[in-house]
This record gives sequence, structure tokens and C-alpha cells, in this order.
Amino acid sequence: MKILVTGGAGYIGSHTIIEILQNTDWEVISIDNYSNSSENTYERIKEITGKSIKYYNVNLTDLAATERVFEENPGIKGLIHFAAFKAVGESVEKPLMYYDNNINSLNNILKCQAKFDVPNLIFSSSCSVYGNVEELPVTENTKLSKTESPYAYTKQIGEVMVDDFIRVNKELKAISLRYFNPVGAHVTGLNGELSMSKPNNLVPFITQTAIGRLNELTVYGNNYETRDGTCIRDYVHVSDIANAHVLGLKYLLENKIEKSHDIINLGTGNGITVLEAINAFEKVSGEKLNYKIGDRREGDIASIYANNEKAKSVLNWIPEKSLDDMMLSAWKWEKQLEKNNF
Ligand code: UD1
Repeated sequence: MKILVTGGAGYIGSHTIIEILQNTDWEVISIDNYSNSSENTYERIKEITGKSIKYYNVNLTDLAATERVFEENPGIKGLIHFAAFKAVGESVEKPLMYYDNNINSLNNILKCQAKFDVPNLIFSSSCSVYGNVEELPVTENTKLSKTESPYAYTKQIGEVMVDDFIRVNKELKAISLRYFNPVGAHVTGLNGELSMSKPNNLVPFITQTAIGRLNELTVYGNNYETRDGTCIRDYVHVSDIANAHVLGLKYLLENKIEKSHDIINLGTGNGITVLEAINAFEKVSGEKLNYKIGDRREGDIASIYANNEKAKSVLNWIPEKSLDDMMLSAWKWEKQLEKNNF
């Protein structure tokens, strides 16, 4: 069975391909334009799984080029659409770049899903669609607030696009997965997040500081109304997130879905503060992290974590990796990058 993965050289895409190759007999085709990744990812996937996949360097905003991939690979049964820009801060600076890329790519993917009759779609969404919420943990029914960034708004719009599209294409089905904070790396330490520029997210910032690539980590504010004053997030291991895509596609393929477009949270349900994350890293790595407390970061929300009951009951998804596993694997990957002079 053929599965097309967009953004397959990226962070979550590559881990998902690994899970697919190790747990199913599906044939994977990947599309990526390496805007925030590298073609070398496919070598790392091969090193871990022993398998090669077919891949294309295509920009999804180019409809003709995207259609050619579907023409060359008839009979695709599932689409997983990861490819998107994802830096929150950058999206505030360059909103049109985000609307252009994230919205047009999805629009073209949906056009291809209809034109080439691909029955199943998984769309990468994000907990940022909830905006600032009053009640925690958030469930899929929590009312969406105004988003804090254009990035998050592209995910809100994306979910609506999928919903509207599926409503009029009744033979097609979709799931939008709302990721909380995916972190960590493959357990082997051979694949992880490859930031092409300075990292935006906490865990790469921690590991790059520990290895000496960055001088110092700034904790963005310690005067929030949380147990130690720093922001709370729901960190979830990238391989657990990846596994949810395999379960999601199986669920769609087995025709179990009641609604034609369903939305599911992917988080562990545990809220962790920034200082707790730093402590976990220091414990598992044995490294002392050079950090200071700084000002709040614009657009940050104080606290968010998931109610993941729906993922458990609908997909049978149980996140298996602990915070320590997340930090240890991220640290292994950082050392691997150092070893290979990345
Ligand atoms: C945000 C989005 C998430 C999206 C991700 C993509 C929200 C709620 N979440 O995650 O959906 O997928 O961006 O990039 O909008 N921090 C520091 N110092 C640093 C870096 C981060 O203290 O150098 C803190 C932040 O203030 C935050 C936490 O660490 O409290 C996590 O930050 P980060 O990893 O950037 O993720 P989010 O902003 O939560």
C-alpha cells in the first residue's frame, strides 16, 4: 500500500517514516523541498530501518509539480501532510510568507487528494490553535480562542479547510492531529531535529547550550502564575507522536472513523515547567546547564497541556516515553551532530 508523506525529511515527518517502515509493510513516498531540512535525512532513515524510500524535491505551492508526483505514483491510499513553516516568532515577523506557504500547500494537497482520489488524509495541526485558554487540560471541544501568531492561525485555517473540503467529498476522510510540544529524538540518537538556523524551541536550545554551540539559555520569564513561575507545556516524545500517525492511518484505512473529519489531541497530559525540563536534562545528561532568567517572550501563553483521552480511546494511543527519555534522546542526537560536524 502506498502512502505519501509531505515534509518527510523534516523532524516529525522523518520519525513517522521510521515508524511506518519498522511497523508496517506500507510503501512510503516522500515530498520535501528542504526549506528547513536536508536530503541526508533519508540516509539516516535508511541507517535506522535498513530501508530506502522514493522521494521528490518539490515545493507544494507548485500545483503542477505536486500533481506530477501523484501521476507518477498511482493508487496512493493515504496522505500525511506535515510540510509547513513552523517558527512562531518568524511568523509574526513574516506573516504573508506563512499564509502563502502553509495555506497554499494545503490547498494543493487537498486538490490532489480529490483529483487522484486518495481516500485518507492526516493533517498536522497544533495545540497553538487553542490560543490562550481558561480551562486546563484542553479537550478537543475546548473553544478555540484568537491565536497568538500567524503560524497558529494557519493551523486554525487549515483545520477549517480540511473540514469544508471533506464535507463535500464524502468518500474521503481525514484526521487533524493537534500536537502539543514534540521533543526528543530517535532512541538510537541517529535522527532528530535538524534546525537549519538558530533553534526556536526549548529542547534544541537546551542541548545546543549544553554542547557549547550556544553560550547561554534564557528562561523566558519566571513570574507566571505557575508552580515555579515558568511556563507550563506538554512535552511529548517525537516517536510517540510518529506512532500516532501509524495508528491514525490504520484507523482510517479500517474505515472506523465515525465522522469524516476528526480532530485529536496528541500530548501526554502532563504539564511540565521550563525549570522542570531543565532539571530533567541536567539529571539525565550529567551536564550543568548555563541558564539565566530573562523577560517573558512575546506571544507565550502561561500554561497549556492536553486531555488525551480521545487519542487513547479512539486510536489506542499510549505515549510511552518519559520526560527523561525525551531529554536523553535529544542529548544523544546533539552529540551525534557534534560528532559529524553538523
Ligand atoms: C509553540 C507552539 C506549538 C508549535 C511550536 C512550533 C504554542 C502554545 N505552542 O510551542 O504548537 O508547534 O511552537 O515551534 O504556541 N523557552 C525558554 N527559553 C528558550 C526557548 C523556550 O524559556 O530559549 C520556553 C518558552 O517560553 C515556553 C517553553 O520554553 O514556555 C517551550 O517553548 P517552545 O519550545 O518554543 O515551544 P512553544 O512556544 O510552547
